Amino acid sequence: MTAASDRFNSAASVALNAQVDVAASSGHKDVRSLPPNLNHWYALARSRAVAEKPLAVEIWGQAIVLYRDGDGDIHALEDRCPHRQVKLSHGAVVGQNLECAYHAWQFDSQGHCAEVPYLEKNQKLPACKIRSYPTREQDGFIWVWPGDVALMQADDAGDVEATAPLEIPEWDHLNYIATVSTIDCEAHFSFLIENLMDMYHGHLHRGFQAWASAALETLEETPHQVDALYTAESYYKIDKIWSISQLFFPALRRLHPEPLRVTYDYPNWTSSLGDDFRILCLFVPISPTQTKAHLIHFVSLNAFWRLHKLPVKFRRFVKDSLFGAAQKMLDGLVREDVVMLEEEQAAYLAQPHRRPYELNRACLAVQRLIVAQALAASVESP
Ligand code: FES
Ligand SMILES: [Fe+2]
Repeated sequence: MTAASDRFNSAASVALNAQVDVAASSGHKDVRSLPPNLNHWYALARSRAVAEKPLAVEIWGQAIVLYRDGDGDIHALEDRCPHRQVKLSHGAVVGQNLECAYHAWQFDSQGHCAEVPYLEKNQKLPACKIRSYPTREQDGFIWVWPGDVALMQADDAGDVEATAPLEIPEWDHLNYIATVSTIDCEAHFSFLIENLMDMYHGHLHRGFQAWASAALETLEETPHQVDALYTAESYYKIDKIWSISQLFFPALRRLHPEPLRVTYDYPNWTSSLGDDFRILCLFVPISPTQTKAHLIHFVSLNAFWRLHKLPVKFRRFVKDSLFGAAQKMLDGLVREDVVMLEEEQAAYLAQPHRRPYELNRACLAVQRLIVAQALAASVESP
């Protein structure tokens, strides 16, 4: 270890302790119980999960109903009928409105009551309004802004650092094959993001041989990101037709050096292994002890230039037919990780004062970013 990295490590520890103290003074025990900064776009569902029926989703204690109106546009409302407080997600879409399952009151996309089927002559529509959330449909996901809308509008106007849903250009690109796995774990989101940034846990996944011999090379931090570059070894390289067979037959695998980049692009995670593989994790913190996420794995077919000359229709067919090709591996990785995350959470709840040891600078940087974002949120939305 160099003198520079020693200095960094000790500075990192001091800074982290200071930030954790700040977290404690803001009423939270430590990073394991901090709220997320909700002033960001969160991918709450896949686009295809919302068709004719409304869908109930949740983020950090907020119950939200997503629905698609008669024009196919997505909307998000508080999942609570103001009449008797039941969930609007039990209801149905009627034209442009969402109709409650109980007495059929209808609500427009802004959350205003638009119809009551049994109003008497001298009665007016009740002036109730439920919360509506800004939504965007982009790259196969429905993104919702659960925070302060004024901040989102300020960002759109360029007043503060611009925010937009994370771009996933590979989703529609014909050269990329996608696989999606879902994560639902009984653990605070900090445990999940540290797991994803700490590439020294390849040991846990040695059965899948996704990567090996990771070594952290560089680490960069900004107020919105932690970016870690590791060197690693992998058999993942899709440059020849035969190399695809390595994905399915362990005996054919040949390890070679590949750069492994992992980035906490708050509140989400992106990674790349060499030129051919990319994995993203779209976070949905549910509560201090539950986190959901979509994990998306892309394999590129960029090396197969002959394929690119084929008709778009055929390439689309290939992309769609191969969707989910890495399902077994991705689900397997998730299963192995979730066991560890839930044990970490349970151990923390049992003895929150006990400090685990941390040697990976990337994890310390992640904790600093979580604390900084939680503090930013508390300042932005007092
Ligand atoms: S509870 Fe929703 S209409 Fe009555
Ligand atoms: Fe993992």
